[in-house]
Amino acid sequence: MQRKIINTGDGSKTLFVPEMDEQYHSVNGALTESRYVYLERGYLCSKAINPVVLEIGFGTGLNALITALHSNSLQKPTTYITLEKYPITPNEMEKLNYGDLISADAQQVFTKLHKVPWNIKTSITPYFNLLKIKADVTTFSFTDLPPADVIYFDAFGPDKQPEMWDELIFKTLFEHSAANSILVTYSAKGEIRRRLERSGYLTERLPGPPGKRQMLRAAKPSD
Ligand SMILES: C[S@@+](CC[C@H](N)C(=O)[O-])C[C@H]1O[C@@H](n2cnc3c(N)ncnc32)[C@H](O)[C@@H]1O
Repeated sequence: MQRKIINTGDGSKTLFVPEMDEQYHSVNGALTESRYVYLERGYLCSKAINPVVLEIGFGTGLNALITALHSNSLQKPTTYITLEKYPITPNEMEKLNYGDLISADAQQVFTKLHKVPWNIKTSITPYFNLLKIKADVTTFSFTDLPPADVIYFDAFGPDKQPEMWDELIFKTLFEHSAANSILVTYSAKGEIRRRLERSGYLTERLPGPPGKRQMLRAAKPSD
């Protein structure tokens, strides 16, 4: 997959895929979007004491970085499982400027997130364990994973990669997540909301990050 590094509105960089005409984050601000959609509306809203976070699309590792830093400052033991079919290269990783924008400690964590091996659960900080799985989400069996408390659904857009937003995937995620778990995504499309609802979730539209009117949060009711 051909990719280019681009700047976004808040000064953070992201990747752009010319053949899809799609970028990894909002052009209005990658760091801002990641913090708002996944951290603030997802991770920080979970009541789980030792949360399991499941991410669809590791990509640049930005969502993982932000979550790792917060799990450490909150001293909240967190297991982060992320699926990725097309890992970025070390050269691309080095051009991303999240460490420069956050802190030297963040840069160290970011490098470690990328350097640890795939498919082996690894400790990144005293409070953050990472399992990066190199796999295709559309064929992956989630059965052996621990039930997720928070799902970061961060696939390319439904119009660009519709197979990632198939209702069967939402049904599978629902089945393999914990009671009272939540799923967050930047998409606010009505059809995506209806697929989540038909999969068993209770959904709500929340105000979106800069440049997006709304986003979706879905909750799995307690049994
Ligand atoms: C919107 S980007 C993810 C952004 C990422 N969360 C981040 O913080 O950079 C979508 C990601 O899904 C990955 N992807 C695309 N198709 C996939 C598939 N079938 N299975 C797993 N990952 C896939 C892409 O390679 C890309 O990294």
